Parts: sequence; structure tokens; C-alpha cells
Amino acid sequence: MCSVFVVDDSRLKLVNMIYVWILILNVVFNTEARLHRRNFYTLYKWTHGIDMTFPTETEREIAINAGYYDLTRIQLPVDVDIHYGENYDYRTFLTIPRLNFGVPYSLATIAENDRKIELNPKVKAFPTYEWHQSHGTNCTGITSALRTYIDECRRLWVLDSGQINSLQWCPPQLLAFDLTTDGIVLRYVLPSNNYKAGISVYTDMIADVATKGNCNDTRVYMSDAWGHGLIVYDMLKHKSWRIEHDLMKPDRSLINNAHDGIFTVSLSPKHIKSEERFLYFHALNSFNEIRIPINIVNNESMWYYPKENLPTDKYFTILGSRGTQCESETMDEFGNLYCTLIGSNALIGWKEGISYSADSIKVLAYGPDQWHFVTGLKLTTNRHRDQELWALSTEPKLFVGYRKKSNPIMYQIIGCRTKNLLRNEQCSVGTTDINIVASP
Ligand SMILES: *[C@@H]1O[C@H](CO)[C@@H](O)[C@H](O)[C@H]1NC(C)=O
Ligand SMILES: *[C@@H]1O[C@H](CO)[C@@H](O)[C@H](O)[C@H]1NC(C)=O
Ligand SMILES: *[C@@H]1O[C@H](CO)[C@@H](O)[C@H](O)[C@H]1NC(C)=O
Repeated sequence: MCSVFVVDDSRLKLVNMIYVWILILNVVFNTEARLHRRNFYTLYKWTHGIDMTFPTETEREIAINAGYYDLTRIQLPVDVDIHYGENYDYRTFLTIPRLNFGVPYSLATIAENDRKIELNPKVKAFPTYEWHQSHGTNCTGITSALRTYIDECRRLWVLDSGQINSLQWCPPQLLAFDLTTDGIVLRYVLPSNNYKAGISVYTDMIADVATKGNCNDTRVYMSDAWGHGLIVYDMLKHKSWRIEHDLMKPDRSLINNAHDGIFTVSLSPKHIKSEERFLYFHALNSFNEIRIPINIVNNESMWYYPKENLPTDKYFTILGSRGTQCESETMDEFGNLYCTLIGSNALIGWKEGISYSADSIKVLAYGPDQWHFVTGLKLTTNRHRDQELWALSTEPKLFVGYRKKSNPIMYQIIGCRTKNLLRNEQCSVGTTDINIVASP
């Protein structure tokens, strides 16, 4: 049971480069003096694999006997979202993609009874266990949720890769659930020219309600790190298109064999009037940050040209190089772009509008205990209308099938109000407000 290396293709595919990176990347980011340790608030942490609950004991046994719940494997969460509801309530969503067989469900919430337990809380299927039960034989259900995003219309967007163990069982699909009822409100199956079957790996997704209050005017952007493309879904048209560009590919000038291209998608805030909005991205295998005006991305007709002479080429701008490479990235309502550094245990920040270089990028948090491999980095707005930054941070060795006999923290969910971060204050979050007794 201990120290087994299960070198299976799909896990490697997700993160096979981490190690390559940690080895290669010895670029010291800024100076030690600028690295101040800051503790994020720990909402949950797991010292053993996530315990997945079932509606009944019988269903649990059936799943185990059928090989649908492999207790010898560590279930690996990949994405996270926190949602504040009414009455001091909040929910945490996790994706646990079916990177291998033996994952009973790929979209989960923390079980109600365990919501206030920090250590090793159990999870349950979302929206229901039935949605996950077919294991790729019913494509209307969820085959393998990889990415989630909660928009301002209280919808949980889910990107289902359709893959189990790297095999394309179903086409990828985009689902949206209304978090007031947990009912499904949208289902969109990606057309075959939008993705590369069995190859595409979706590393980020963002849903943008372009006009405040008009929930139908939404576009969803999805990064395909292994297929090297960006997929845009337009809800009003109920259609999608794929964008490819050389800057979405790994930077071949870096000496390694990693295949990871466009890893993130972040958008300029929309409340800053009269300013052009941009979509920011970077390839994991690159030091550069790129931007492109959103209206170009959103104009489907601009992408129907042969790749060699795209009229849009001139709109892609390399903002600058950070001199190191970062992984998960997100932009807040004031245009602060946060990114986590692989192998450096740090979170960095840059503000839109100023030059992009190592000098203008600040280290906002540093902590070897907390910042490991961050596969999910999200913003959420709490009931005081403050934005909070949340991260799912995982021991990178888990991605190559490593198991420890007795371990410290395998993965953890950590958060901080963005204003605390920027003002250099101690981290606080809205989930602790729950301790204050609500007025009757
Ligand atoms: C497939 O899954 C969906 C969602 O859970 C469900 O509504 C539907 O009845 C299932 N279809 C079959 C044939 O089992
Ligand atoms: C949004 O779309 C739905 C379904 O097409 C429609 O029923 C609804 O009226 C639309 N709402 C607005 C505000 O356009
Ligand atoms: C989209 O791009 C085309 C050129 O390909 C242009 O004629 C059209 O005006 C653009 N539409 C919008 C809404 O910007």
C-alpha cells in the first residue's frame, strides 16, 4: 500500500510536467526580502484520501464490488468553488475527475454534517449520485467533471470532459446548475471540431455575464492545455467555436518536453467603464503573459480563416515575461491578476494596466506549508460583498500516483479576502462569519 508509483497515463497527462518544472525551474523569484510568509485561512484539509459517501450503504457496496469505487487509490480533487448562499450558509464544490477507473463520482460537495469540520471532511455527489452512476454509458449524465465556475447568476457551470482514464467515452459537455434549486438549466455538447478526442485536457473555465442582470448574455471560455486551444461558448447563440494560436502552444525555447499550452483564462473586470476588456492567458510552459481584446475573441466570424493568415494575429499581445512560469490564474474585480508559482510556494499579483515584468509583480503570499500545486484558484464574493481568493493546493507527488504511509497534508482548501492580501493584513474569510449568531 505504501510508496507505490502508479504511472498511469491520464494522471501524467494532467501534470506530468510538474516534476520537469520543479527540476528545471530554479529561477529565484525576486529577492528573499520580498517573500513574506502569510497564512491563508484553511477551510478544509485532508491527510488521507477523500472519503466519498453514498446515498445508501448498499449503493456503496455495489460501487466497490463493481470497481467503481477503488479504495486502494487516492481520489484526487482538481477544482474548487465556494458559494455563499442565504442565511450564513456556504457550500464547497470539488471536482474529482475520473483520471482512472474507480472514481464513483466526479462532482461533489462537502457532506452537510461535515461542513464545519476542517480535517478530512467527507463529500457527497452533486447534484445527485444518479447523475454519475452510468460511468460513461449515459452521456446525459456526468462522465467526468473537470472544471467548475460559479457566475453572478448563481449558476454552477460544469465542464465534463467525457473522458475516463483518458478514453473519450462521451463528447465533452457544458452543464449549468441553478444553485438555488440545484436543477439543471443548460446542457451543451461540444461539437467534434471544438476539441481533440482523448487528447484535450481542460485546465480552466470562466463564465462571463456580459450585461449585468441579463443572465442569458453569457459566454464561457475554456482552455485546452493539451490540445492548445481556447473554446468559446456563446449562450445567446447556443453555439461554440475554437481558437488556436501559436502563443497557446508550449514555448519550445524552454528546454523540456512538456506539452502544456494555454493553461488559464482570466478576464478584465467589466465595471470599469469605457475601457477595453481583455482576455489574459498563459501557457504553462512559458514565462510570458498574453492578452487579447475580448471583443475579438467573442466575434466568431474572425476565426474562420486558415490558421496561416488569421486577421486576428495582430491582436495577440505578449505583455511581458515574469521570468518564471506560473500555473493557476484569476483576475479580481479591480483588475488584479493572481497566479501561483510552481515549485516556489508562492502567490504573485500584478495589476492590469501597468507593465508586466518581474519588477511590477508582487509576491502576495509565500508559505511552503500551503502553496503546493494549485490546480484550482477561484474568486468568490461573500455576503459583505468582499471578494475572496480560494485555492485548492495539492501535494504534487499525488499526481504521479505517489502514496505516503503517514502523511501531512495531501490537499487543502485555503482562502483570503483579496483586500487583506493587497493591504498586507491577516487573512480572513466569510466562512467564519457563520459563528456569529444571525439575528432572528
Ligand atoms: C441518463 O442520465 C440522466 C441524468 O442523470 C437521466 O436523467 C436519464 O434518465 C439517464 N438516462 C438513462 C437512459 O438512464
Ligand atoms: C433567457 O432565455 C430563456 C430560454 O431561452 C428564455 O425563456 C428567457 O425569456 C430569456 N430571458 C431573457 C431576459 O431574455
Ligand atoms: C466581427 O468581425 C467582422 C469581420 O470579420 C466585422 O465585419 C464585424 O463588424 C465584427 N462584429 C462585431 C460585433 O464586432
